[in-house]
Amino acid sequence: MTTAVVGPGRPLHGRIAVPGDKSITHRAVILGGIARGETMVRGYLASDDCLRTVAALRAMGCAIEETQSDGRPALRLLGAGVDALCEPGDVLDCGNSGTSLRLLTGLLAGRPMFSVLTGDASLRRRPMGRVVEPLRAMGAQIVGREDGRFAPLAIVGRRLKGAEARLPVASAQVKSALLLAGLSAEGRTSVTEPQRSRDHTERMLRAFGAAVDVRGPTVSLQGPQSLTAADVDVPGDLSSAAFFIAAALLAPGSELRIERVGVNPTRTGFLDVLRAMGASVSVENAREASGEPVADVIVRASALRGTVITGALIPRTIDEFPILCVLAARAEGETVIDEAQELRVKESDRIAVMAGELRRMGVSVDETPAGMRIAGPQAFVGAECDSHGDHRVAMALAVAALTARGQTTIRDVACVGTSFPGFFELLERVSR
Ligand code: S3P
Repeated sequence: MTTAVVGPGRPLHGRIAVPGDKSITHRAVILGGIARGETMVRGYLASDDCLRTVAALRAMGCAIEETQSDGRPALRLLGAGVDALCEPGDVLDCGNSGTSLRLLTGLLAGRPMFSVLTGDASLRRRPMGRVVEPLRAMGAQIVGREDGRFAPLAIVGRRLKGAEARLPVASAQVKSALLLAGLSAEGRTSVTEPQRSRDHTERMLRAFGAAVDVRGPTVSLQGPQSLTAADVDVPGDLSSAAFFIAAALLAPGSELRIERVGVNPTRTGFLDVLRAMGASVSVENAREASGEPVADVIVRASALRGTVITGALIPRTIDEFPILCVLAARAEGETVIDEAQELRVKESDRIAVMAGELRRMGVSVDETPAGMRIAGPQAFVGAECDSHGDHRVAMALAVAALTARGQTTIRDVACVGTSFPGFFELLERVSR
């Protein structure tokens, strides 16, 4: 368990880049692993979570080489098609990675092999029924703890039948798992969400030659379909950039440019919320890379006001709540976060954990069943805090600590390696 000590920071200036997008990296490794031909994934995220997906594909016989391309970390995958996957000889340990576990469950449910997927204590507490039940409706044979509601999950892969799934909660992981199962299934698979979640899978499937139909909140594809290798240029992760955007907003005199960030509209709720809070954030040099919108994000220190975050904004902001709570505490007026009960089943219960940790730093918050209310502005006071093993909580607390009076000790920060290796070094470089 590693501890970080963070004290008040100075204004943030200059240009930075953040590591590659976590969601896009997972998908590139899976699709590259089951496509025919050579896939080059440039700028991939070499974090603990993504390396779990790499290890799982290797365990199924995929040739994956770590290399460099254009000065960026790259993966070269040599795929021979989904039929070339072989039965893994051991349990696939997904560590802390919900994306690995859920997407691989979808992939493996339709493959003719036996597999077992598990993860760390946090992942074994997260709900898996949401992916197991619709897969069973396609004919999948999956068992797990509490009738498949929790990992470990054991899968006896078999030929599936396409089905229509209506998800009670928007989830890109569940949608992607069903689409991956649908690729091997007989007939049409369709997934309808109450609100649209991130659409990286749909975009990347098309880039790999699949026919995918998107109509409003429904995504469907006809199975079986095979994929052809394609190169993937991974943009910087907006969810990682969010911590530096927030740090720059809060430190008077800051002006920071974050280059090559993914700005897929299903992910940019954070930027929309910031604009509603009066933040100076702009997007320049917008372009497309591998079917994904990319841009530079420019942020200047700003006075913020409270806002309301609910409804369709929730899936578009889902990973940014820990840092939004920090910004809300510094904003003038009340911020209300509601209809965000999903936050209770992330890497930690992010509503309870952030409420508790902000209180330790002297900020009073009103925890509600599906969100919280924070009346600002309030001052942060240096304190002894805990990440609860949640990478985004650790990074949000570090940003809060930059604005606090006195020093803050954050326990258990090794978890930042699940999405942002080098976070503390970069923070030190630009703000200390
Ligand atoms: C992800 C989807 C989201 C998000 C997670 C990554 C993905 O989870 O919170 O960090 O890559 O598909 P849900 O699908 O559970 O909302």
